Formats: sequence, C-alpha cells, structure tokens
Amino acid sequence: MKNKAFDVANLNLAPQGKKRILWADRDMPVLALIRQRFAKQKALKGVRMGCCMHVTSETANLMRTLTAGGAGVALCASNPLSTQDETAASLVKDFGVPVFARRGESKKTFYDHLHAVIDTRPAITMDDGADLVNLLHGDRAADGSNIVASMEETTTGVIRLRAMESRGILRFPVIAVNDADTKHLFDNRYGTGQSTLDGVVRATDCLLAGKRVVVAGYGWCGRGVSQRARGAGALVTVTEIDPLKALEAVMDGFDVRPMEQAAAEGEVFITVTGNKHVLRAEHFKKMRNGAVVSNSCLFDVEIEWRSTFRAWPRCPRKSARAFAPTWTSLSSARTRASSCWPRAGW
Ligand SMILES: NC(=O)c1ccc[n+]([C@@H]2O[C@H](COP(=O)([O-])OP(=O)(O)OC[C@H]3O[C@@H](n4cnc5c(N)ncnc54)[C@H](O)[C@@H]3O)[C@@H](O)[C@H]2O)c1
Repeated sequence: MKNKAFDVANLNLAPQGKKRILWADRDMPVLALIRQRFAKQKALKGVRMGCCMHVTSETANLMRTLTAGGAGVALCASNPLSTQDETAASLVKDFGVPVFARRGESKKTFYDHLHAVIDTRPAITMDDGADLVNLLHGDRAADGSNIVASMEETTTGVIRLRAMESRGILRFPVIAVNDADTKHLFDNRYGTGQSTLDGVVRATDCLLAGKRVVVAGYGWCGRGVSQRARGAGALVTVTEIDPLKALEAVMDGFDVRPMEQAAAEGEVFITVTGNKHVLRAEHFKKMRNGAVVSNSCLFDVEIEWRSTFRAWPRCPRKSARAFAPTWTSLSSARTRASSCWPRAGW
C-alpha cells in the first residue's frame, strides 16, 4: 500500500460512477449551493483533509464540495460493504480525489487504507465511527500532532470520542456532527429507517408485510426503522432498555417487550442500539426457523457471534445469497443473517 496514490477496484468503472454521483447530486441542493460558494471563496484553500466515510455517491458529492473549496482530500471507507466501486473509480478519475477503498475489502486492507489516508498528512479529519481519530491516538499517534480538528458523523463514533474526552486523552477538538439536529433528526430517523429495511429486503428478498419485525433500540434510528417497518405492513415489536423510550414506543403504538420474549416470535430482527451483545446465543436458541438477523449499527458487536457459534459448534456457515450467510444450528433451527459490517466473516 505504501506510496500508492490511490487504491480502487477498477478505474474502468468510472463512467458508471460519474453518472451515479451526478444522479445523487440532484437530491443534494444545499451541498450544491455550498459548492458554488466554495468555488468562489476557496474557503479551504491549501487545507489537507483525510476522510473515512461510506464511499457512496453522496459522500462523493461532499468530496467534490470540499475540493471546490480548495481542500486536498483523501478518502477511505468507514465500512467495507458500503463501498460503491464505480463511485470510488469516478472520484479518482473524474474528480481527482485519492480514494483507498474496495468493496468487501479484508480487515488488513481496511486498516492499510486508513494508514494510507493518514500518510497524506491531513490537518483535518472526518470520520464515520472514529476510526481515523482512534488510529491517530494509537499506532499513528505521532501524526496526531498535525491535526487541527476533526469531525465525527455517527452516534457510536461520538460515544467513543466522549469516552476518550472523559478520560482526558482526546488530543484535538472534534465536532460531533451527529449532535446537529439536521443530522440525527433526519439522517438517523428517516435515512437509516429506510435504508435498513432496504438492505434487509435486498439481501433476503423477504416480504415485510405481515412479518413480525423486532427492532432492538428505540433511539433516532430505531424510531425510523420501526415506523417504516410498520408502514410496510410489518407487525413491529420494540425492545428497549431505557424505560422512557420504551414508554414512548408503547405510546407510538408498538408492541414492547424484552428480547428474551421477542426472540421466540420475531421473523426479522434488526439491532440499532449502538450497544454490545444485544443478541446473544440464548436469543438465537429461541429463534424460529428462518429468522433473519440484521445489524444496522456501525459495528457488528451488537450480535454476540462468539457465544452463538460456541453454542452451535458444528454449524456450517452457508452463503445462500451475497451478504446474507445462513447458519444451521444443531437443533436444525435456521438463521439467516445480514450484517452491515463483515467482521464475523473476517
Ligand atoms: N446504518 C446507518 O445508516 C446508521 C446511521 C446513523 C447511526 N447509525 C448507528 O446506529 C446506532 C444507533 O444510533 P441512534 O442515533 O439511534 O442512537 P440513540 O442513542 O438515539 O439510540 C440507541 C437506543 O438503543 C437503546 N439501547 C441500548 N442498548 C440496548 C439494548 N441492549 N436493547 C435494547 N435497546 C438498547 C438505547 O436506550 C437508545 O434508546 C449507532 O451505532 C449509530 O452509530 C447507523
């Protein structure tokens, strides 16, 4: 990876990627206005920025905006499964942005790409999950002294950073983008609400109408997922550990109960808590045949894979569909899992 100017899957995909980026741009009028202003004012002239975000057409338009403002930008993926290879190719070829991202990249490549972005010596970083900041406080601490400030997009990233701040080890200021009303009120609720269900349906082809969908967590994302699942005709059960939010879910008309009970009834499970081990072996054991398990959070630690597979020592992992591996337990219960993060497979 050292000295590579970029690392994408296939530069020949650029024309397809450009169309996709310009398509997304039509729905991003505010960013387009900022881009026009930046092009005149060059507000970021000479500033080097390192970004670790979903490499999608929407992020591409953000990169175009930053470069219009005069910034030098390098981008890597915050999630190996969301990378659009065609978008990555177009960013390199058509917009001159060094991108280090390949869809489905291995854990080693994922970290190589983070290092490659830090090698560009950014003064400002942008994260979706605090991976760059984390590295700049660990293996790449020496490069942390170049950093003027950083930005963090997501709830889990902000939680990680607040923990560092409370321990007095955060070395530079970070803007918690997720705290902006325009982020969590809309992106988390409506964006994640829709895209989570879209991901489950694309991965499994399942019909949501009439299905018992169990949503773990009734925060900003969970509210959105629950409302949209209900809109698609699903019967929605919510699990929550915060009594106030559990009450809110009841008042919003959802069935609310502990996972211990919901596990036996759910047909589709979606975790959106930002917490660890929300679904564990004891829940998997109760699940019905064919249950679909998905995680919409930043990391797949929401699902306790280790104890689950210890409980099912001889379960073959089958891949019936891309990104939807199927497990068979010794009691022949079958669980299909779709995760937005591939650590279990790493
Ligand atoms: N997939 C996406 O596109 C996307 C977008 C934004 C955020 N996220 C991620 O989604 C997660 C949730 O974000 P949010 O903004 O909704 O957070 P939030 O803090 O608003 O909500 C999380 C909720 O989960 C509840 N919870 C915690 N542990 C639980 C458990 N064991 N069982 C049931 N409920 C539990 C909390 O009480 C809280 O109400 C974070 O990891 C965030 O980074 C994903």
